[in-house]
Amino acid sequence: MSDTIQRIGILTGGGDCPGLNAVIRAAVKTAINEYGWEVLGIEDGFEGLIKPDKARLLDITDVRGLLPRGGTMLGSTNRANPFHYEVSNNGEVKVFDVSETVLQRVRDYGIDVLLVIGGDGTMRIAQELMQKGLQVVGVPKTIDNDLYGTEITVGFDTAVTTAMEALDKLHTTAESHHRVLVIELMGRHAGWIALAAGVAGGADVILIPEIPYHLDVIADKIRQRNASGAQFSLVVVAEGSMPLGGEAVYQAERDLGGVSRLGGVGEVVAAQLRRMCHTDVRVTVLGHLQRGGSPSAFDRLLATRFGAMAVHMIAQGKVGHMVALQDGCMTAVLMREAVSRQKQVPLDSDLVGAALGLNICLGNTRQAIMVRQEPARIT
Ligand code: F6P
Repeated sequence: MSDTIQRIGILTGGGDCPGLNAVIRAAVKTAINEYGWEVLGIEDGFEGLIKPDKARLLDITDVRGLLPRGGTMLGSTNRANPFHYEVSNNGEVKVFDVSETVLQRVRDYGIDVLLVIGGDGTMRIAQELMQKGLQVVGVPKTIDNDLYGTEITVGFDTAVTTAMEALDKLHTTAESHHRVLVIELMGRHAGWIALAAGVAGGADVILIPEIPYHLDVIADKIRQRNASGAQFSLVVVAEGSMPLGGEAVYQAERDLGGVSRLGGVGEVVAAQLRRMCHTDVRVTVLGHLQRGGSPSAFDRLLATRFGAMAVHMIAQGKVGHMVALQDGCMTAVLMREAVSRQKQVPLDSDLVGAALGLNICLGNTRQAIMVRQEPARIT
């Protein structure tokens, strides 16, 4: 297929994360050096194919110095779904299907295959466009790590490191003031960031959406720590966490088109713990700090491998696939498979087992969590 290709397009969709630029750099260099193709950079995700004049040819010099830079040189948006494109006029929001505009723009630009770097939302749009004839290949990115089919997504490792460093800082002030410090972390409806950062940062309580929490269990944990002389506690709360039998917490203010955003569960948990434990509780919401900064070495390597492999996949005609990491190796998974479900933290994972073994409270009793831990196999 590589002989029939002259030009590929590349875009970054959805929320940004560290490592996007490293993917772009690897893809541009591989496409030009190995195959002699042209690369057209599309600005602001699918918005750049909906609106005119939002594309530019990328050369090797355009990606110079890009490896350590956070964000995306192409810009991104998580509000430009061509099948559900919202236009606001004097406060009134109207929804249009502009997918035909996108397909026509791709033809006009002479793009043979489109490389989309994104999370589940972007992959879903790409999959739908493919059904209408677009040739696409995907690269998985999101700090949330909730994209199915790949063990890790670009951006996750850096976000975990940022959250862990925040926990290290909160640790000393919590200890000095004998306080409970609650930190709310991102991750949507998956607890990957909270669990990984919580374990790496020595949290005492970690709440994730996969394990609805029971306040009595959390309060008991804090009281036990106080009674044992450790008069401070670090409580990590994933933004999508919810009480047993209850709902996740959303921000009151909605985005354009009424899109709901998670946020606020940290304050909710803190208020209850203040009342139940009669103790000083403070809340930190780490927010978009988790999406910024220079990518970690792991993310730079993953992004580089993904970017290069995605271009090879295009050359091999593997359209409709997303590059993925499985068992430490690069592989290709069907895009429709990747969007078929959300990847949540499995309760039988060794990290959940390790956290429980360290007596970290995961929001409910060990029996309630009912992990099916296999004993570690020693070879
Ligand atoms: O998907 C990445 C993410 O940062 C989520 O963790 C978070 O819920 C959401 O995006 C925030 O989106 P926005 O950029 O619209 O505030």
